Amino acid sequence: MTQDELKALVGRAALQYVEAGSIVGVGTGSTVNHFIDALASMPRPVAAAVSSSTASTERLAARGIRVLEAGAVERLAVYIDGADEIDARGCMIKGGGAALTREKIVADLADRFVCIADASKRVEVLGRFPLPVEVIAMALPQVARRFAALGGQAVQRPGVLTDNGHPLLDVRGLSITDPLAMETEVNQWPGVVSVGIFARHRASLCLLGTAQGVQTIHY
Ligand code: 5RP
Repeated sequence: MTQDELKALVGRAALQYVEAGSIVGVGTGSTVNHFIDALASMPRPVAAAVSSSTASTERLAARGIRVLEAGAVERLAVYIDGADEIDARGCMIKGGGAALTREKIVADLADRFVCIADASKRVEVLGRFPLPVEVIAMALPQVARRFAALGGQAVQRPGVLTDNGHPLLDVRGLSITDPLAMETEVNQWPGVVSVGIFARHRASLCLLGTAQGVQTIHY
């Protein structure tokens, strides 16, 4: 199977965690796009979705799924999203699609984070994928220097602003052996809007698309 077929497989498999008539949290990315398409085909549909990006909002709306603002919802049973990397504890790197801040906001509303990913995303240690960090523009050089002091090389993602209007750094060369500690540290640096380490909001379970089928991993 191709990587895209594996993404489609787990996108469809995620439907088993979505209750008809409920409000579902929806992430961003090519794997989630498959999930949105599957969501639109449910015989008994969801009541609405809370979306983590303009791109997902547009796709949901185009498929007739009502989208609510995150601020209008107090709690979600489940948030479904992809990942750039996921480790053995369900900690993730996210933000390859520049939606990390809104993804964390919607994940924070949810009782359960269901990660959908093809097998290439499973890693032992986070950090081979460049770590995305959303930063207020005037702080970019200082945040980059702070990463350099940790052994990381931070480069601004060219031509990209987030849905919140901020630039992103992609940080290479990190080996994130303690994701929670690094997330906590980087979150405190002035000018950081959010860091793409999801340890505090790690996955509750992962549906991993493999050549043998969908593997369900509980954390
Ligand atoms: C977007 C994300 C995505 O979940 C992540 O980049 C994975 O994307 P894809 O499903 O396209 O491989 O964090 O900000």
